[in-house]
Amino acid sequence: MNAAYNMDCMEAMRSMPDKAFDLAVVDPPYGLPRDSSNDRGKLKSRIFNQGNISRWDKPPIKEYFDELFRVSKNQIIWGGNYFDLPPCRCFVVWDKLQPWENFSRCEYAWTSFDMPSKLFAFDNRYGNKIHPTQKPIELYAYLLARFAKPGDKILDTHLGSGSSRIAAYDAGLDFTGYEIDPEYFKAQEERFEAHAAQLSLFVGGNT
Ligand SMILES: C[S@@+](CC[C@H](N)C(=O)[O-])C[C@H]1O[C@@H](n2cnc3c(N)ncnc32)[C@H](O)[C@@H]1O
Repeated sequence: MNAAYNMDCMEAMRSMPDKAFDLAVVDPPYGLPRDSSNDRGKLKSRIFNQGNISRWDKPPIKEYFDELFRVSKNQIIWGGNYFDLPPCRCFVVWDKLQPWENFSRCEYAWTSFDMPSKLFAFDNRYGNKIHPTQKPIELYAYLLARFAKPGDKILDTHLGSGSSRIAAYDAGLDFTGYEIDPEYFKAQEERFEAHAAQLSLFVGGNT
């Protein structure tokens, strides 16, 4: 199954049984300040020109994490440095391979795994983007290859561009995702359908 729903993940999680998912790979809004009077605010305004992120960039409430830990056996949480989470051994760093000191050069994910920490290096500056904070499919493919097992059920509560969904599809994993914003939802649906169609053409061409 590979399913995406245009709805509030809180509403969805409240009706899920305990440990319904093997792995949650999530990227909730960090709720960064949008004060354009400082460098960070100015940069942020420039970066996020592509969309009005203020309508959704609110950090999750405590109940979000309570529900996330209830409905999933393991978790990978992007932006873990912004949230009140327990100490973790196996953090993941995404080195964005971008050269400017003034921009964020890496991102951090908190994980529930007891393994050595991980580093993934990938430059995401090129290619078409449909979402202002879009992470690369390659990053999710890397995570799923290391942290998911065949047959696992994967949850993403904050789909955005749907990169996680595409990576799960390519890996043959069962996936469920939620996105609250109708425009982002529609855009990720179209991206997913185009990817799946391209893949089936490619696979069809080789049979
Ligand atoms: C940081 S972005 C995710 C980006 C994504 N990882 C990607 O690679 O494109 C967070 C997304 O969560 C969505 N969102 C915010 N609150 C939500 C909620 N309660 N339920 C579902 N989606 C939500 C926002 O609309 C936004 O698209």
